[in-house]
Amino acid sequence: MNQAAIHQLLASRAKEENLDSLFELRLATNLSLIQHIFFELYPEEQYKASFKRLVSLLPKLFASRPLELKQQDVQRIASRNWYQSEQLVGMQLYVEHFNRDLKGLKEKIPYLKELGINFLHLMPITKRPSGENDGGYAVNSYYQIDKKYGSKKDLQELTESFRNEGITLMLDFVVNHTSDEYPWAQKAKSGDKKYQGYYYTYEDRTIPNEFEKSLPEVFPETSPGNYTYIEEMDKWVMTVFNHYQWDLNYTNPEVFLEMLTNLMKLVNLGVDMVRFDALAFLWKKMGTISQNLPEAHQLVSLFRMCLQVVAPGTIFLAEAIVAPTEIVKYFGEGIRKGNECEVAYNASLMALLWNSIATKKTLLLYKSLTRVPEKPKTCTWLNYIRCHDDIGLGYDDGLIGEVGWNPQQHRKFLLDYYCQRIEWSPSKGLLFMYNPNTGDGRITGSAASLLGLEKGLEENDSMLIEEAVKKIILLHGIVTAFSGIPMIYAGDEIGTLNDYSFLENPAKKEDSRWVNRPHQDWETIETLSESEGPQSQIFKALQKLISIRKSSPVFSDADNLVLHHAGNDHILTFERTSQKEDGLLVVCNFDESPQVVEATWIMKLGYFSKGEPKNLISGDKISIQSGLLELQPYQILWLTKA
Ligand code: GLC
Repeated sequence: MNQAAIHQLLASRAKEENLDSLFELRLATNLSLIQHIFFELYPEEQYKASFKRLVSLLPKLFASRPLELKQQDVQRIASRNWYQSEQLVGMQLYVEHFNRDLKGLKEKIPYLKELGINFLHLMPITKRPSGENDGGYAVNSYYQIDKKYGSKKDLQELTESFRNEGITLMLDFVVNHTSDEYPWAQKAKSGDKKYQGYYYTYEDRTIPNEFEKSLPEVFPETSPGNYTYIEEMDKWVMTVFNHYQWDLNYTNPEVFLEMLTNLMKLVNLGVDMVRFDALAFLWKKMGTISQNLPEAHQLVSLFRMCLQVVAPGTIFLAEAIVAPTEIVKYFGEGIRKGNECEVAYNASLMALLWNSIATKKTLLLYKSLTRVPEKPKTCTWLNYIRCHDDIGLGYDDGLIGEVGWNPQQHRKFLLDYYCQRIEWSPSKGLLFMYNPNTGDGRITGSAASLLGLEKGLEENDSMLIEEAVKKIILLHGIVTAFSGIPMIYAGDEIGTLNDYSFLENPAKKEDSRWVNRPHQDWETIETLSESEGPQSQIFKALQKLISIRKSSPVFSDADNLVLHHAGNDHILTFERTSQKEDGLLVVCNFDESPQVVEATWIMKLGYFSKGEPKNLISGDKISIQSGLLELQPYQILWLTKA
């Protein structure tokens, strides 16, 4: 009998003593791998005692887990890979921008259900400095709720309602750094050597200068360099992100042990998925860019395997916004295959979709996606268009060249197109971290503003508005049908425009990502059912896409996505295949003009076996004239056998 079967059997009689024996079973099964990874990172000769401490910590962490969550863990293991289900549709939101606080969010559960959302990523809600805090990504605590969101009790009530309503929850674990106000940082500042060793602190610039030779800068405009001088301790500390975010020193096993305890306290709040923030940066090595190092993977896997023992129902999302070939590695390779993160942001798809919108072509998307190494079958993508961050242009230069473009000029074109430097472009994005010397930069802006809705409304241009609405639906139609979990960024479901109020706030005005962190517009939402306006069209379209997705298991991630090339550079086509059900063929037009594709290959795939295929989105059968399938500008078809 395998582990899952044993869990299933015992879950049916989930008494406390069974839960304890299941813990023992998991510990026995996973301990050798945990030990192996631990000693890979922290050599046995030096760190035997630390490993012993880890072994004695695990039962304590398990004992700290609330009974209800222990029971849920057992059910989760038995029900397996729930995160690959077609039923799961997510939304990412800032609690304070959505509806005030945690209580306010609870009031809006009916709205989420109306749209079909059952998985929420709440942006950081734990304590943070009162001034600059990177939207809560500078943490003063990993598990204490900041009072502006409410109390621990409010969160407990919220998660209880979520469980009753079948809504799963994701919170961030800001694993790479703490704020400069975090208790460890405070002790370090006051001269405590132990806590200075929890960070990378240096007496002078000798080592920092060596590191700087190869370290890139994350926020070159607002936080140049990777070290900050701290007067109180007369030392330099590594700060790869903002100057107030101190990088944790994981070469010190104490840091790992304490952070594991923090992680457990976080997941004990009722978290189903943990967003592992900036995990590519976890390990630093002189002479390298200090991203995606093998040790960073070992560390993630060590966290994963320990959680597998103490809170096995919780899964990890990799926030690795890195090259496509590097992202897949966060699912785990070799002996760690499937033992790192179960889910990863599909940052490659996201960035490629924005490239296709600007160029109206899909070749780079095809070339890039077909080169992404296969992911393990038990893992899945989180597919999205926009989030709270910027859009980076992390395409492969070689592939840009293969398409026939000059990589540098192409990136410049994209920045020009999206950031208001080309008059004919419909887009109203802003530049982020632009470096005039190199021309490098990133893009911020809400999906609707980037896709032309803001300009269309400003200029009262009905054609532009119509196109923008179609593009918003097109992109959401792709991520909703792609393999993985679709995640809508709150506000995008009603075409929310850029929010320029950040320019008036000194703690925000240097960071243009705030332009795409708007407040939820409940006034507009009130009017959706009677209105025919763009917001209402977008909301109804997304609601429909979600309900179709949930109605067929073909949308679940069963390793069943096949890319097809329809022989037209403006078109993207992919299929969700199925042995049991009818498959689904997605055909999209990225061009502003109608486009045609040959219908013969669609016939060969079997979509005409019951007559002309049906477009699930409109409910109509498609009509083929002279052997050609015609697509309207920015149209998306979800075809199935009629
Ligand atoms: C992640 C977050 C981003 C934050 C950074 C540092 O990339 O998404 O918003 O600035 O981590 O914590």
